[in-house]
Amino acid sequence: MEKVVFITGVSRGLGRALAEAYLNAGRTVYGCARSKCDLGDKYPNRFHYKSIDLSDAESGPSALRNWLDGAPGFELAVLNAGVLPEIRDMRDTPLESLRETMEINVWSNKWILDTLLAMPRKPGHVVAISSGAAVSGSRGWNGYSLSKAALNMLVRLYAAEEPDVHFTAFAPGLIDTAMQDYLCGIEDDDDFETVRRLKKARRTPDMPGPEEAAQKITKVLETLPARSESGAFVDIRKLDN
Ligand SMILES: NC(=O)c1ccc[n+]([C@@H]2O[C@H](COP(=O)([O-])OP(=O)(O)OC[C@H]3O[C@@H](n4cnc5c(N)ncnc54)[C@H](OP(=O)(O)O)[C@@H]3O)[C@@H](O)[C@H]2O)c1
Repeated sequence: MEKVVFITGVSRGLGRALAEAYLNAGRTVYGCARSKCDLGDKYPNRFHYKSIDLSDAESGPSALRNWLDGAPGFELAVLNAGVLPEIRDMRDTPLESLRETMEINVWSNKWILDTLLAMPRKPGHVVAISSGAAVSGSRGWNGYSLSKAALNMLVRLYAAEEPDVHFTAFAPGLIDTAMQDYLCGIEDDDDFETVRRLKKARRTPDMPGPEEAAQKITKVLETLPARSESGAFVDIRKLDN
């Protein structure tokens, strides 16, 4: 299969670093986000970018379909874009905030997958970027935990329907991105113990920058179809690499 990779959320953080790692390795990348990505300047022929708002389930799907009309099949699709809502208790979290998080972290991946799976060549491997928060249930992670748990199940359900495509819900470990800027900027609060742990991990090998993380993740992703069941939730921190 031609080496073409599809990635959402390429404007910064892990998505941008993954896109750059694949471009450096000679692959072609189709990437989307709302804000522009500078990789097009460096790789004008192999980086294809489209601005798509994943919270917009009205016009997002047709924008994606039109953009990908005529695109080659994808060896790998990384559903990376995601949002982290404010850390606070469930009882303090408005339903609207939960809905917004679900729209981007879960439902957009449904219409993205429906589009990718309807292409003449289906993706070989679909990796949805999940999180340890999908299973930890730590206090304060409200819509984020709910959305990543639902994302894991979304992946399982598609895996059951699509035996020719390998699916993975993948927790990438801690990565020093804009998400961590927010988390590490929160004042210490005994109610939200996990935030204190993240602050301790920052600037240590437990929280690499996105480029370093992407180097490791791209290698690990290559091996997953051979060593994990399709639809499984895989946490990079629990793998013997
Ligand atoms: N950082 C960590 O420690 C960590 C740990 C576990 C899991 N993760 C997961 O890893 C993934 C990447 O996170 P990150 O840390 O790289 O976050 P980030 O730096 O905040 O980047 C998030 C990306 O998602 C895109 N995005 C957000 N809302 C969007 C929307 N409505 N439409 C289109 N794109 C949207 C952003 O682009 P625009 O804003 O330009 O649209 C950006 O490119 C997420 O799924 C996150 O949950 C991160």
